[in-house]
Amino acid sequence: MQNQAIGIFDSGIGGTSIWKEIVDLLPNENTIYLADSKYAPYGRRSKSEIIDLSIKNTNTLLERNCKIIVVACNTATTNAIQILRDTYPVPFIGIEPAIKPAAIHTQTKSVGILATKGTLSSELFTKTSDLYAQNIKVTEVIGSGLVELIEENKIHSEEMKSLLQSYLAPMLKNDIDYLVLGCSHYSYLVPILQNLLPKKITIIDSGEAVARQTRAMLSKHQILNQNKKSGTHQLYTNGNPIVLKNILKDLKREYTIDCLHF
Ligand code: SIN
Repeated sequence: MQNQAIGIFDSGIGGTSIWKEIVDLLPNENTIYLADSKYAPYGRRSKSEIIDLSIKNTNTLLERNCKIIVVACNTATTNAIQILRDTYPVPFIGIEPAIKPAAIHTQTKSVGILATKGTLSSELFTKTSDLYAQNIKVTEVIGSGLVELIEENKIHSEEMKSLLQSYLAPMLKNDIDYLVLGCSHYSYLVPILQNLLPKKITIIDSGEAVARQTRAMLSKHQILNQNKKSGTHQLYTNGNPIVLKNILKDLKREYTIDCLHF
């Protein structure tokens, strides 16, 4: 069991930001990553579609014997993780917008959240926000079109810059000092966001926290890989493999990318 892979899925290439954190923290674990780009973005889909896609991805990973599943997609986590946990015997790790640390640390009592429609309208997000951000002004903005541009390899386009400027405007108007990224794709926008935002605004991304949670869960279930050698990493996409290759081009690590129908 310990040698079995950690399975990770996302609606596309964005969850590789989480995958990288996991591989850095747990270098001797084997991993299998599924980029469900064919069905991206999940954020515009109905809850039942998101659940069906999450089940499809989980089945594909379990067919490959994964010992734990990381749902590296905020939209799938907030809409489907409870059903996944109730349906399958393996442990699941999800990714939720990090509203709690932002609400604890904000000085201006105003924080911004950029996420998909599917995440912001989910019950889980509303509950978390109600619980931790009661006395805080929360400016929620739907990042329409951002996932599509990332999936089309247009991160550094003018279109991306002007979309981001328009999404940040209401947050800046409300004097936020924390910006929470509520979509794993958005991690790839951090350098652009840093250029567009005043220095006093802290950007919170959940990748490292998810990696630490994965390690804790493996340890709890006594399924940490005890091998001393580096793990193997297989990435599968049902979209354009060039886009996946491109987003990982600076990564100094061994991995394989293959096309798969799922
Ligand atoms: C999407 O597919 O719309 C975004 C994925 C996410 O929420 O992380």
